[in-house]
Amino acid sequence: MSTATTTPASAEKSAVGTAHTRVEGRDKVTGAARYAGEVPFADLAHGWLVLSTVARGRIRAVDHEPVLAMPGVLTVLHHGNAPRLDTDFVGLLGSRPDPTCAVFQHDRVPHMGWPVALVVAETSEQAREAAEALVVHYASEPHDVAFSGGRTDAYPADGHMPAVTDKGDLDTELAASAAVVDAVYTTPEEHHNPMEPHAATARWDGGRLEVVDSNQGTTWVRGELANLFSLDPAAVRVLSEHVGGGFGSKGVRAHQVAAVMAATLLQRPVRVVLTRRQMFSLAGYRSPTTQRVRLGCDADGRLRALEHRSLSLTSTVHEFVEPSAAVARAMYDADAHHTANRVVRLDVPTPTWMRAPGEAPGSFALESALDELAERCGIDPIDLRLRNEPEKGPVSGLPFGSRNLRACFHEGARRFGWAERDPRPGLRREGRWLLGTGTAAASFPAGAAPSTAVLTAEPDGSFTVRIAAADIGTGARTALTLVAADALRVAPDRVRVRIGDSDFGPAMIAGGSMGTRSWAWAVTAAAGELRERLDLGADIPPEGVTVRSDTSAAVGALAQRERHSFGAQFAEVAVDVTTGEVRVRRMLGVFAAGRIVNPLTARNQLVGGMTWGISMALHEEAVRDTASGGHVGADLAGYHVATHADVPLVEADWVDDPDPDDPVGIKGIGEIGIVGAAAAIANAVWHATGVRHRDLPIRPDRVLAAGQGAARA
Ligand code: MOS
Repeated sequence: MSTATTTPASAEKSAVGTAHTRVEGRDKVTGAARYAGEVPFADLAHGWLVLSTVARGRIRAVDHEPVLAMPGVLTVLHHGNAPRLDTDFVGLLGSRPDPTCAVFQHDRVPHMGWPVALVVAETSEQAREAAEALVVHYASEPHDVAFSGGRTDAYPADGHMPAVTDKGDLDTELAASAAVVDAVYTTPEEHHNPMEPHAATARWDGGRLEVVDSNQGTTWVRGELANLFSLDPAAVRVLSEHVGGGFGSKGVRAHQVAAVMAATLLQRPVRVVLTRRQMFSLAGYRSPTTQRVRLGCDADGRLRALEHRSLSLTSTVHEFVEPSAAVARAMYDADAHHTANRVVRLDVPTPTWMRAPGEAPGSFALESALDELAERCGIDPIDLRLRNEPEKGPVSGLPFGSRNLRACFHEGARRFGWAERDPRPGLRREGRWLLGTGTAAASFPAGAAPSTAVLTAEPDGSFTVRIAAADIGTGARTALTLVAADALRVAPDRVRVRIGDSDFGPAMIAGGSMGTRSWAWAVTAAAGELRERLDLGADIPPEGVTVRSDTSAAVGALAQRERHSFGAQFAEVAVDVTTGEVRVRRMLGVFAAGRIVNPLTARNQLVGGMTWGISMALHEEAVRDTASGGHVGADLAGYHVATHADVPLVEADWVDDPDPDDPVGIKGIGEIGIVGAAAAIANAVWHATGVRHRDLPIRPDRVLAAGQGAARA
């Protein structure tokens, strides 16, 4: 059922589908691979950002004079002296820039942790000391950071999709239903916390701006910087060779812009690195959500009514929508079907994409509600889902490209041992532990975006692939090596893949689970053309034979169908009745997520997402202090994430599911692993204890407070 059965496109031995260690793995473990904050430059100066200490107001004065006299200090940039930026544009991903990135343009402070100055010095230590000594005077104003489902100032907001979809009469269908669920679910503010902090070095080199950065797309960052600084994009080069995690947080942020400003002013290389604490204000995050789900079904489990309404927050300076209600638009149909994404504007930093934006919190609510409905109508939770498998996109009306959710549940149930499960809650006890199992469905959109690849046949018989891809830890560089090898019909060791350089031409970002697929498409197209050229018997000159692909036209055809990856999540938990601690004992995820290019790194991606699901279910929660407007414990001591001892046996596997319309069969696997994982755990906690937890994370105090009755019974 896994990759062994994936049929290669040709009869030749296929590299795609074969486990392959990372091609840059040795460089990474020996330290030879340089990350953005450690690439050496002669004459390098260091910038340190100063962030506001009030949550709303105006900057009255920046006392830069005393700081300029401190050792090594070169300059202090702030709104009073910084160059003007152009923020009136729509970037490559279709959004206007978040004004948070356009640093030092005015005296207003819209949230705690807003960048108010950059201190540049000869060394990082000098810059930090001076930044901490810089006195900034504020005229503080009352702020409002209180997020709740009861906000009367919330409004429907589109983001990248319609805010509202509406079909049928909910009240009528709910009234006619045999079983009904009406529940509110909440998820907290969550942060990406990639292992490598954001870092950039900017310098001018022969009339071109060069930025060595840690990002999810050099094309994207180049475009934003060119727009902000009114530069010809050809005069900007962005390099991002190795990236220690991104998860949606690594686009254009304040540090690159501040570094470019300072490098321009000083005419020497300037590096700006964010601290872990600064990342809590400047790197984006996942908005908290409050979601109301109403479901109604017939006695046989068929859904008559489905309503999913989500509220998230955004800042006062930029509208970002966490589209949690959208997951219902692809998963389940009903006679009355209503979804809505709403936001409220608060004095907080702007949230952003974070792994499975929308689907991660949305699936927690929806897949928990399905479990509650299964309980209420006495139908097995897997059965209930399979009885509601839609024939076509419930809202789009489009046929699915492929929808192999059934196969995921069948295979998952078999391997997890679901058939032996007693559905009654609160019955299994092992000493002080109550045991339970739960399941949930997962889905994530599968798409591709235009990209260009440049392939060169070298005179020595090797091949060089150049593409502005980003390997943010996914193993993209290795995946593209395998894809190129197959497309060229050579062994992978004859292919070298160079990525992370905007000079290679425009390419999709590592985002939306679309990176590897989009780049593989471009690489395959270029390889096909190169093979034709070589088959014609062309002699290879010293400079090689080079072709360039552009998939802009090809990927357009995908819009004819609704395209998703799917998955079935399973979890077994143990709940300590004395302490309220929840421990995950095992997880299994079975996915239908297109052809799997590299089983080794694919498993990493899926297990990584599922592990994050454990973290989301049990640990992660950024706490905002309403009095100050800032975070409590904005660091990895105060912000809990699942670590090794929290993560037991987590298995991920897949069913054969090649995308028929993709040249390699890929769909994308970056995000689906987290989708449904928290719901599977919460559903298992209910099965263990008999108590529903509708607020994440499921902390020990919540388990104890909610579960007294069940625990004593
Ligand atoms: Mo991902 S949240 O699309 O980087």
